[in-house]
Amino acid sequence: MERTFAIIKPDAVERNLIGKILERIESNGFKIAAMKRTHLSTTQAQGFYHVHKERPFFNSLTEFMCSGPVVLLVLEKEDAVSAWRGLMGATNPEEADAGTIRKDFALNIEKNSTHGSDSAENAAFEISYFFSQTEILS
Ligand code: CMP
Repeated sequence: MERTFAIIKPDAVERNLIGKILERIESNGFKIAAMKRTHLSTTQAQGFYHVHKERPFFNSLTEFMCSGPVVLLVLEKEDAVSAWRGLMGATNPEEADAGTIRKDFALNIEKNSTHGSDSAENAAFEISYFFSQTEILS
């Protein structure tokens, strides 16, 4: 069993898509090991996305991530990192496969409805950035 970290982003929360996205997560065999709805501070968003700090979209991305509430999730499944990335689809919804979350719900490459860790190593960092061990129940 592997863990990954997911975010339902402000564009999806604002459009009342939490339930639809959680339904896809659960019906695809993931267990939700932890979940919280919160509003990120600028410091939290900048720290979370620090690997992108030299990218031209960094300021816009971090402002967007603080523009409204998000849902933070720890997901469990065999090969959870790649399974969640597959279920989300490509970062750019125009390139996402049919039936993926981003194809169906994302607005554009930035407002792309969900985040997922890109490796098991980053998942461990991202999970521990937002959740303490006692908040995660397998
Ligand atoms: P995410 O999976 O959260 O990882 C980094 C985020 O940066 C990505 O989803 C998008 O929201 C955003 N992003 C990636 N590439 C671009 C881009 N070219 N322009 C704007 N935002 C981007």
